[in-house]
Amino acid sequence: MKGSEACLEVRAAVTDRTDQVAAFDAIGARYEQAFPKKAGQIAAGARLAAELPPGSRILDVGIGTGRPTARQLVDAGHTVVGVDLSTAMLELAGKNVPEAELLHRDLLTLTPHGRQGLGLFDGLTCFFTMLLLSRREIYCALRLFHSMLRPGGQFALAMVEADLDDTEIPFLGHIMRVSGFLRDELRQVVHDAGFEIAGEAAFAYSPARTDAPPEHQLFLNCRRA
Ligand SMILES: C[S@@+](CC[C@H](N)C(=O)[O-])C[C@H]1O[C@@H](n2cnc3c(N)ncnc32)[C@H](O)[C@@H]1O
Repeated sequence: MKGSEACLEVRAAVTDRTDQVAAFDAIGARYEQAFPKKAGQIAAGARLAAELPPGSRILDVGIGTGRPTARQLVDAGHTVVGVDLSTAMLELAGKNVPEAELLHRDLLTLTPHGRQGLGLFDGLTCFFTMLLLSRREIYCALRLFHSMLRPGGQFALAMVEADLDDTEIPFLGHIMRVSGFLRDELRQVVHDAGFEIAGEAAFAYSPARTDAPPEHQLFLNCRRA
């Protein structure tokens, strides 16, 4: 399922994410305590901030607490629009990055055009958010991100490496449904969505909480072809 018609179907039938939203609302500030020392994410944010001319417009999809990424991008002189489904996360982002424009939206409802349209962006970050979608939704989200970027726009992506599709795992005291890819397949699905991959990095990462398992984090530095 990779065609644009199938994506229209996926987007029209937006998944009920009530449980996931309740989990992120409850996790709130504990997210930063569970995932400290984000060297890979800080490096990926710094690279994006430096690659774009100052004053660029960047969409942060699944902004979370706004730290480190949105904070870093604003500090580098960029304009950030942050999207999240969790009101608790948006409240934290509002405190941590008051300069950002924040939107309470499911990422699959984003569009550049029309009444709800956000226009085109120079850059887009999606760090550890797509892992909360099914693979079917990930294929569509990547095409959607492509449509939200101006030609040549930069896309910074982070995923956890895992061969999973919509699979339940324990996560910070909650059950979450997660998906992922092994790194070769991740490169392929990103490429198939119309991105060139200019660079990548992988980090072994151990969360501070024992119920969040050790993981390999993959960072792809991409460009809208
Ligand atoms: C694992 S956290 C990552 C937060 C941030 N990007 C970071 O790396 O620190 C995922 C975030 O994405 C949000 N999220 C998950 N699914 C979403 C969706 N379909 N639309 C918008 N936000 C979503 C969650 O509420 C949560 O704040």
